[in-house]
Amino acid sequence: MPSPTGPGPKLTLFDAVNISLGSIIGAGIFVILGAAAAVAGPALILSVLIAAAVSLLTGFTTAELSRRYPRSGGVYVFVRETFSVFPGFLVGWVWLFSNVVGGATVAVGFGHYLTYFVPGLPTAVGIVAVVAFTVAVHLAGAKESSRFNNVLVLAKVAVLMFFAAAAFLHFRGANLRPFAPFGLRGAWAGAATIFFAYAGFARVAIVADEIEEPRKNVPRATLLSIFISTLIYLLVAAAAVGAAGYKLLAGSGSPLADAMAGVGLSSGARLVALGGLAATGTVALASVLGISRLAMVMAGDGELPAFVGRVGGRASVPRNAVVIGGAAMLVLAFASDLPHIAYISSFSLLLYYAALNVSGLKALRGGARVATAFGLASCVVLMASLPRLSWIVGAAVVAAGALFYAAGRAGRPGRPGSS
Ligand code: ALA
Repeated sequence: MPSPTGPGPKLTLFDAVNISLGSIIGAGIFVILGAAAAVAGPALILSVLIAAAVSLLTGFTTAELSRRYPRSGGVYVFVRETFSVFPGFLVGWVWLFSNVVGGATVAVGFGHYLTYFVPGLPTAVGIVAVVAFTVAVHLAGAKESSRFNNVLVLAKVAVLMFFAAAAFLHFRGANLRPFAPFGLRGAWAGAATIFFAYAGFARVAIVADEIEEPRKNVPRATLLSIFISTLIYLLVAAAAVGAAGYKLLAGSGSPLADAMAGVGLSSGARLVALGGLAATGTVALASVLGISRLAMVMAGDGELPAFVGRVGGRASVPRNAVVIGGAAMLVLAFASDLPHIAYISSFSLLLYYAALNVSGLKALRGGARVATAFGLASCVVLMASLPRLSWIVGAAVVAAGALFYAAGRAGRPGRPGSS
């Protein structure tokens, strides 16, 4: 990833698609697939398709809005521009929370995959290692990081393609019967869980200022990355369920590697575990990038304390935001178990995607508006199928954001543009 603030050439469409794929392909397919299989059974394949459709509808709205507002900040900017400062702040706040939780989830996923190489190693060691590494890379500025990201994306996609090919060779139709042991409700719950795997398609809008011709390339990168990840996820989910059966996946923190081991391919399992490390590592990196960059934009707008957005060091990065984001990810990674943080992460994602669609309803017209309405409805339906705990946490996060905002206003009564 490029430095958020440093000078340098703009990123091409290829780089932009890779920023998106770098943010998308991670713990969702390598880890959360197991939790989704547990609630959906083999209908997990349907869950992957439903989650793709929801992502595509919201992705379409993201693309339209980023064409209209081509500046860094993504959904925070969309809601701020179409409504006003306060809802914009709340959405930015939820986005930050969601990325902290998402980052925590991938850090836990990294910890699980690391135990493949160092059996018996406590997951905590991997969690601390990946967060510390991520923070260090961002503090260093990582000038070559866009190229590094491109290479890692190609590597993780290659590993997933290898997995799909190897697993399809062991495909057994019997593993797909019964297809939906938990009914359609299970498939929906699976979609809400695996939706996490698509998160990240709107990331490129957060860094729009870094992209060549953002009005054209940000929407293209958003939609292309959804198409590519849908194709990969469908192949992987069908191959995994067909080869290993959903029960094996359901009980695993590293389901793809276990699926390989389950069909007797132990060296394949190690390769997949390596892909899991690369994928979760890059998403952790992208999470801290997104958190620090949006925090910087919001601090620049006076919505967060100035010290959060302060840029410093040779690398010209918002160091405080990087360190705070990393520390918050660590706390959450240790405070909850994997299914819980995955649910909470999916809920907060759906919440800000719903807000994105609401601003789309206000800003867009014609066919785009219809797609946006479906996007909003699908987000709400998926949210409804998540456990009550995620609603309680979501409400608490929004309330905390409102209190924080009110306290900030009380401290600065003349803040311009406040509403
Ligand atoms: N979509 C990202 C992942 O699966 C957040 O890790």
